Amino acid sequence: MSDSGATPKVNRKVLSRRSIRGAIFPGDAREMGSAAKYELKDPATSRAAELSIMSGTLGPDVLDISHLAQDLGVFTYDPGFTATASTESKITYIDGDVGLLLYRGYPVEQLAESSSYLEVANLLINGSLPTKVQLDAFRNSITRHTMVNEPLLRFFQGFHHDAHPMAMVSAVVASMAAFYHDTTDINDPRHREIFAHRIIAKLPTIAAAAYKHTLGQPFIYPRNDLRYCANILNMFFAVPCEPYSIDPVAVEALDLLFILHADHEQNASTSTVRLAGSTGVNPYAAISAGISALWGPAHGGANEAVLDMLDGIGAAANIGHFLARVKDKSDNVRLMGFGHRVYKNADPRAKIIRSMCYRVLESLGKGGSPLFELALKLEEVALKDDYFVSRRLYPNVDFYSGIIYSALGIPRSMFTVMFAIARTAGWVAHWQEMVSDPHMRIGRPRQLYTGPTKRDYQAIEKRVA
Ligand code: CMC
Repeated sequence: MSDSGATPKVNRKVLSRRSIRGAIFPGDAREMGSAAKYELKDPATSRAAELSIMSGTLGPDVLDISHLAQDLGVFTYDPGFTATASTESKITYIDGDVGLLLYRGYPVEQLAESSSYLEVANLLINGSLPTKVQLDAFRNSITRHTMVNEPLLRFFQGFHHDAHPMAMVSAVVASMAAFYHDTTDINDPRHREIFAHRIIAKLPTIAAAAYKHTLGQPFIYPRNDLRYCANILNMFFAVPCEPYSIDPVAVEALDLLFILHADHEQNASTSTVRLAGSTGVNPYAAISAGISALWGPAHGGANEAVLDMLDGIGAAANIGHFLARVKDKSDNVRLMGFGHRVYKNADPRAKIIRSMCYRVLESLGKGGSPLFELALKLEEVALKDDYFVSRRLYPNVDFYSGIIYSALGIPRSMFTVMFAIARTAGWVAHWQEMVSDPHMRIGRPRQLYTGPTKRDYQAIEKRVA
């Protein structure tokens, strides 16, 4: 029922397939010229629209409905975009039914095993694995862009000490265009490249500044002799009054988490970056919009919510009561870290993270962590429960990532910030792909309007409550 009390009318129309598709060629879907067409017919008027089939290199075909409004005067309705491809992309492929995640064609398991976050970032942005020379040059450029303009750092003094780090990070990233406006011409490939290096390099520095601000500790400058993740740990945990030794297992765990979070095709924050970026806005503003979208508990805020949930459950004896609340639809409680819009069988990232969780906890001497034990038990009980089985709800990447971050000493309020650092590579890759496409158009969805029909303004004295 709509606000106006009107229920949208549903009419039955006919959709039929007219011919069989020929061979599928890899490449640009717009150039594939498939012979197959669907026909959508309005039986009341016999008007028909032909919908071409577009084929990618993997995954289901999509119907091109861009002429539908012109041909039949109707829009399509797809709340939550469960059946709509908003763009064509060559970056990441997910098959949720078999639990497959490919970055530029490479399975995430192989990258997690053999690659590094910066190599994956380079792969996502440039499309192929870099040579040693290319990777060294990329790494060197990122390392040399890690410092931020000093006045930008002073912004943090304006935030209250208990401000959420995500609020600070999204605000400071949005203001980066005020400092780096010399390279925000989105039509200039060199500007785009410098932006990409700057944002990947500086986001950890901004994140560390936000963290140090919440602690009231002095900011620690980046160190060019350290690799990307080691430098992050140093900026987070070093203090000027004593040496800080960086744990190699912590570096490895962070690098792995970053690889697994680096991209995930057209998720909510990436789509936000694309939508904001499609207006031609400067890329820092688009990334800031993505950071804000990531903050929600249904998306990047889930790992923080998982630990809050585990704290709330407290002990294995309370799992039954908690799951009963999750299953009670009137209670509005979700099993955080479970379920995914795309993965309906297993999230491949969750499996990798689960085994890393064991390693990190063992290596840090936190083997019997009560939180981890509780998470394992909760997972075990939920996976046997018909509610979760029948809805194909499995642990996602964030069920265990928060436990690892916690073990590394990273506070909960910083979890989504860590996710944002990792996802920056994906956001940049998608933004680059979009703005370098000569067919780029502003994103502008339509709607099914269910508000009041046209009515006349009434003088205030004539209105009744
Ligand atoms: N706990 C309890 N019930 C759930 C859950 C959950 N975590 N997830 C889905 N359901 C139920 C939902 O109530 C619905 O039941 P019914 O058919 O009876 O109405 C059914 O499963 C289908 O759910 P949905 O809401 O249509 O699924 P969705 O694709 O819209 O939502 C999701 C996906 C990730 C937002 C959701 O599963 C969720 O809220 N999970 C918990 C939050 C979470 O862990 N988010 C991190 C996602 S992974 C990180 C990332 O990639 O961003």
